[in-house]
Order: sequence, then structure tokens, then C-alpha cells
Amino acid sequence: MAPAHDRLRRLVLLLVVATAAAALLLAPTTADAALPRVQHTPTKADGSLAILVVGDWGRRGQFNQTLVAQQMGVVGQKLDIDFVISTGDNIYDDGIANTSDPLFKESFSNIYTANSLQKPWYLVLGNHDYTGNALAQLDPAIRKVDSRYTAIAKSFIVNSGIADFFLVDTTPFIVHYWNNTKFDWRGVAPRDTYIANLLKDLKCALTASKAPWKIVVGHHPISSACGHGNNTELEELLLPVLRARPKLSGLHTGLTCT
Ligand SMILES: *[C@@H]1O[C@H](CO)[C@@H](O)[C@H](O)[C@H]1NC(C)=O
Ligand SMILES: *[C@@H]1O[C@H](CO)[C@@H](O)[C@H](O)[C@H]1NC(C)=O
Ligand SMILES: *[C@@H]1O[C@H](CO)[C@@H](O)[C@H](O)[C@H]1NC(C)=O
Ligand SMILES: *[C@@H]1O[C@H](CO)[C@@H](O)[C@H](O)[C@H]1NC(C)=O
Repeated sequence: MAPAHDRLRRLVLLLVVATAAAALLLAPTTADAALPRVQHTPTKADGSLAILVVGDWGRRGQFNQTLVAQQMGVVGQKLDIDFVISTGDNIYDDGIANTSDPLFKESFSNIYTANSLQKPWYLVLGNHDYTGNALAQLDPAIRKVDSRYTAIAKSFIVNSGIADFFLVDTTPFIVHYWNNTKFDWRGVAPRDTYIANLLKDLKCALTASKAPWKIVVGHHPISSACGHGNNTELEELLLPVLRARPKLSGLHTGLTCT
């Protein structure tokens, strides 16, 4: 998405998600879902977490990226953050070509240099990451370039005690992108199957999660008062999954969670 309205759009998404999460407090256990997981054990004695969330950033330091990065470093130090979440559009304009693309260091490693930001970064892709080589940022080889950069799949879960973070790949939902030949749909097409599987896996994982907080993260907001407006595809497809009140097990939702 264009950078102009990002903070508000992300905030709206997170608020929608927090509401849905509160409704899921009593979610029971089922079998493991298929989304890959990262275990991030909290280090603070009281089990609390402090994180920073940022999106739409990779600009080789321009567009005030460097200034924002410096302030993130200051705030990150104050809060003693555990990790950073990125909501996508990580590298403008078209992601990175490969894991040795100099753009990666110029837009990430050389920018987020503060001590407090030397923590894992858990990232989803945005549409700008999809219009080049959409697989490059997911390649494990990227962590040889910068060990912080943790996007183990297009959608995955970070288990961190008090909170489970469900990172959801929202770009394939947006129908009009599918008419744009710049998008790299390897591993995604056909759209309907990809989305159906993703939503099933998400539903299973939300149902199985025992964490008090379940926070769903994606690049595109469900609702937004800003220029891009609501994303009707997410209203129709993703929102019902977030609103669902899981019953005693995944089976009650008609799902088979494996
Ligand atoms: C960066 O921030 C300064 C100070 O707020 C502002 O004047 C300038 O226009 C910004 N530059 C860009 C490219 O947004
Ligand atoms: C990686 O991408 C960069 C930037 O496009 C290019 O210069 C370089 O040749 C590529 N390297 C490999 C190994 O493909
Ligand atoms: C995509 O392109 C097809 C064929 O040109 C057209 O029929 C369809 O309306 C387009 N869809 C969108 C969402 O732009
Ligand atoms: C966008 O979503 C919000 C929240 O569901 C809704 O109140 C609003 O009417 C929607 N806007 C449009 C233009 O559909």
C-alpha cells in the first residue's frame, strides 16, 4: 500500500484483532495446525512482553526511515523490547531480487543499528514485497546476511507465552492484484485454494491457542477510514474467522485440524 496512511491503517487492524482476541480467551485445545511456528520465550521475570510494530519501511533510509529507526532505537531501549513485528512492505518498491541484493542491507541492516533493535524481527510480506521475488525474504539464507530477519513462511505463528502472534499473508486476498503481472504468485496460485487452506489453518491455530492474547498481524487492514478504504475481500473472508467463537474443539466448527 502507499505509505501515507499506514499508522492508522495498522492501528485499525490491530484494534480489530485485539477485539477478536479478547473474544477468544476461552479457546480450547485441538490438534496442531499446519502453520509453522517460532517459539519466542519471554525473558522478563513477570512473563510480560514489550514489542515494537512497524510497517512500510524499506527506503534505503530515505523518506525519514532513518529518523524513525533512531527513535525506535530510543523507545526500544526504554521498553526493553523482546522483538519487533513488521507488517510488510518491508522493501520498496519491489522487495529484494535475492538474498544478496544490496538493497537488503541498505534498507534494513544498515538502518536499524540501535542496540535495542538487535532482536528477532518477525515479518509478513506486503504487496511491495510481492512484485519482485516474493520468495527471497523467506529464504533461510537471508539470516546469514542478518540473523534478525525471521520470515519463516508467508504465514506463521510466534508463540511467546502471554501472546500468540498469527502472521497472515494478506496480499493474495486482494483481487485486483491478480491482474497485475508484476506479482510473484509462486506457491500461491490458484488463489481460492491458497486462501481456503490459509483460513482453515488460521482457524485451527486460533482454536488451539492457549495464550491469553491472540494477535493477528497482516499487511492490509480489514477496515480503514483512510484513502485505501476497507478491504472487502478481508471483510468477507478473514473477519469471520477472527470473529468466530471456537466451541469445545475444532470439530465443532466443522474443521478437521491436523
Ligand atoms: C523528513 O522529516 C522532515 C522533518 O519532519 C520533513 O521536513 C521532511 O519533509 C521529511 N522528508 C521526507 C522525504 O518525508
Ligand atoms: C541479486 O540481485 C542483485 C540486484 O538485482 C543482482 O545485482 C545480483 O546479480 C543478484 N545475485 C544473484 C546471485 O543472482
Ligand atoms: C481482471 O482482468 C479480467 C480480464 O481482463 C477482467 O475481466 C476482470 O474484471 C479484472 N478483474 C479485476 C478485479 O480487475
Ligand atoms: C468499513 O468498515 C467499517 C467497519 O466495519 C464500516 O463501519 C464502514 O461502513 C465500512 N465502510 C465502507 C465504505 O464500506
